[in-house]
Amino acid sequence: LSDKMVKICCIGAGYVGGPTMAVIALKCPDIEVVVVDISKPRIEAWNSDTLPIYEPGLDDVVKQCRGRNLFFSTDVEKHVAEADIIFVSVNTPTKTRGLGAGKAADLTYWESAARMIADVSKSDKIVVEKSTVPVKTAEAIEKILTHNSKGINYQILSNPEFLAEGTAIEDLFKPDRVLIGGRETPEGRKAVQALKDVYAHWVPEDRILTTNLWSAELSKLAASAFLAQRISSVNAISALCEATGANVTEVAYAVGKDTRIGPKFLNASVGFGGSCFQKDILNLVYICECNGLPEVANYWKQVIKINDYQKSRFVNRVVSSMFNTVAGKKIAVLGFAFKKDTGDTRETPAIDVCKGLLGDKAQISIYDPQVTEDQIQRDLAMNKFDWDHPMHLQPTSPTAVKQVSCVWDAYEATKGAHGLCILTEWDEFKTLDYQKIFDNMQKPAFVFDGRNIVDSEKLREIGFIVYSIGKPL
Ligand code: NAD
Ligand code: UGA
Repeated sequence: LSDKMVKICCIGAGYVGGPTMAVIALKCPDIEVVVVDISKPRIEAWNSDTLPIYEPGLDDVVKQCRGRNLFFSTDVEKHVAEADIIFVSVNTPTKTRGLGAGKAADLTYWESAARMIADVSKSDKIVVEKSTVPVKTAEAIEKILTHNSKGINYQILSNPEFLAEGTAIEDLFKPDRVLIGGRETPEGRKAVQALKDVYAHWVPEDRILTTNLWSAELSKLAASAFLAQRISSVNAISALCEATGANVTEVAYAVGKDTRIGPKFLNASVGFGGSCFQKDILNLVYICECNGLPEVANYWKQVIKINDYQKSRFVNRVVSSMFNTVAGKKIAVLGFAFKKDTGDTRETPAIDVCKGLLGDKAQISIYDPQVTEDQIQRDLAMNKFDWDHPMHLQPTSPTAVKQVSCVWDAYEATKGAHGLCILTEWDEFKTLDYQKIFDNMQKPAFVFDGRNIVDSEKLREIGFIVYSIGKPL
């Protein structure tokens, strides 16, 4: 690979494919990177001034290298045929029907990408699993490719992605580690080295870990499960704090001071969301079950159950504290994205909370700085697990939920409301004029802080009744 310009093609221009390839292109001017997708609108957006995803710092990176050594195209077959290294970063949602429905990963998109690679390739390829996949997927992919190979040599690598949304560019610039799994054969090792050379343009050697294929695939699922488990642990403790007068922020701080535990990722919340934690854990649970390990499966399932409990506990608290009924009452929802600094709403806890409040016949008024009304209506109309199927395959005009209005301002959302729920920790919610909000709300005015970001003492002085997660009233 060393004597000519290396060509990389990435299949899937989503939250992972777009930012990761943009950073590779920025850091490796000697490599040509083409990101391809079957979605025309997505590729058009990547080629426009309004990128399809909101991610701090991304615009700047794309501007620097687009048209230089970074390209976005719908000509999938041409660029796959020309590439030396093909990343596959397509979505791997949870299956909605058939064997393993509600748990197993749906590899339809992955398989069709693999078959297309086999169809169009005329030279040897390194195929990199970037998507999160069940352990042993590389074996399946190898079968598809080699059985259709026409004498071409394929090396499959597992290179899972650990970036978090909202900090994707930072995470890609300075990853804790890059993980590459490959076959332990001379050809396998050569392929691992080729991918290592790409990352070595900016990632220190000692942060690039190499393992066998199955360890790399499983490490991704395990990392997601461990991270989510910390949140469910602190959220479980938050329920006990509310019952006893302990303060979860103080408890988490004290617990996290133990260097063996560490301080990060211990913020109690309304529940975790995002496209991966639940999906990856369900995937892990299913694999455990298939391998005859029901005890292990049940252990991890509990992380999701606590998360569901945390969301329904939040709704119950809103309804019960507002005299057991929210029917016909206006409730403001501040924040709909699953975390701050992203417009992504996949599996956001806001969906379950809003559905819960709607179930009790509330009128809700939603404001999020990055999420459109169209997206919110689509999310509230969608069935569980349908969200991770590509945007362009979702119904474009769902019947709008009438009890929901979406506004472009926190003051508008809270005007005349009985209660206010903070569901995303956007910085701007910390500095709102809460006196003004209070003056325009019905009394008593309730605040339910699902992210523990407001100064509850100050709000109580204004006159609000404040409920935080895991804190004394
Ligand atoms: P996404 O839905 O944003 O992007 C996937 C893209 O793949 C879509 O644009 C879709 O049109 C395209 N696609 C599907 N089939 C295709 C095909 N056959 N040919 C060409 N394009 C095709 O998904 P994402 O969030 O980028 O996630 C991708 C993978 O990365 C998933 O497996 C996910 O679990 C994993 N992952 C995601 C994150 C994250 O933060 N979102 C982080 C780490 C890992
Ligand atoms: C997560 C992981 O952090 C990434 O390493 C991983 O690559 C990614 O999943 C993935 O596989 O897709 P992401 O979901 O983008 O990244 O964002 P996180 O910062 O992990 O937040 C996930 C959810 O947990 C959010 O709803 C967030 O608000 C919540 N959270 C996070 C808490 O409630 N408390 C915390 O202390 C931290």
